[in-house]
Amino acid sequence: MAENKPGGALDDLIGSLKSAVAPFRATLNELHAKYRDVADGKVADYIPELALADPKWFGISVVTVDGQVFDVGDSGQLFTVQSVSKPFMFGQALEDHGREEVLKKVGVEPTGEAFNAIVLDEQSNRPFNPLVNAGAIATADLIHGKDFADRVKRLLGIFRRYTGREVYIDNAVFMSERTTGHRNRAIAHLMLNFGMVSDRVEESLELYFQECSILVHAHDLAVMGATLANAGVNPLTHELAIEQQYVKDVLSVMFSCGMYDYAGEWAYRVGLPAKSGVGGGICAVVPGRCGIGIFSPPLDARGNSVRGIKVCEELSSRFGLHAFELGFGGQVMDEQFRLRKSR
Ligand code: DON
Repeated sequence: MAENKPGGALDDLIGSLKSAVAPFRATLNELHAKYRDVADGKVADYIPELALADPKWFGISVVTVDGQVFDVGDSGQLFTVQSVSKPFMFGQALEDHGREEVLKKVGVEPTGEAFNAIVLDEQSNRPFNPLVNAGAIATADLIHGKDFADRVKRLLGIFRRYTGREVYIDNAVFMSERTTGHRNRAIAHLMLNFGMVSDRVEESLELYFQECSILVHAHDLAVMGATLANAGVNPLTHELAIEQQYVKDVLSVMFSCGMYDYAGEWAYRVGLPAKSGVGGGICAVVPGRCGIGIFSPPLDARGNSVRGIKVCEELSSRFGLHAFELGFGGQVMDEQFRLRKSR
């Protein structure tokens, strides 16, 4: 191996790479400073454990498909993934059953309603989409496993592949979710009444509460998003997290349904597939380019992170990330990063 003297070719190369990406790191720092004092929004408290989050926590991470990592602020602070888990579970259900079988059990239609709305598509006898609570519970019901322990093991395996590390469930949040989850239990039993879910739905509800209680940080959300951006291959570990053929299914529902009753405006203003959670996380995907992970607990009335939305809106407009920017988004970012796929 060639020796690298100080100021040698390798140092020059590292220096030029660092300066090529430094402007982007500076932009993220600037956005962090710009929005960290925004005091709007309220930390979720309908699950008592979530109310313990510090409203000041604020992390921004971006991971590109060729493995560049940008972590700013509290991007290593753990929090529960909550609804950000839902599209990833939908992906696993597709792998377990195939597209047609899954679509018999859950639709792909936005509701325009709150995430916990008690609305079901009576025409097709299924919940509207996998990203509202009803659809997510029906999706959890589809996750295979020889018994409950095996289903939980598979659940953790999904998130291990996407994040590239072992993940754990926050037991306090899980217990808090399940003891206060009357509305979700009601939705599950309503679906059981209509034959939309199997008779093991009580167990599937537990799996749903477990998936919501998985601990992640903003960096993880960026890696998870980057994995979807990279056709299902984790750009840091190079492990396949989801069969390539289903990546577009997951991204489509994120695009149309990921931000609940803000989904239309999000698609219009930001133009990226994304998913939010009441823990304060947002995972956004710039297909073929990068994943964006943001964590900031105060939420707006729709349950989306206030600072998270502001950062995504500004990143999208500054870097031309909107899917339809100039007809097809992302060129500005391509120029700045000279991106190469890591597959
Ligand atoms: O079902 C619930 O109430 C939560 N565990 C998950 C909700 C959630 O994150 C909705 N997203 N904004």
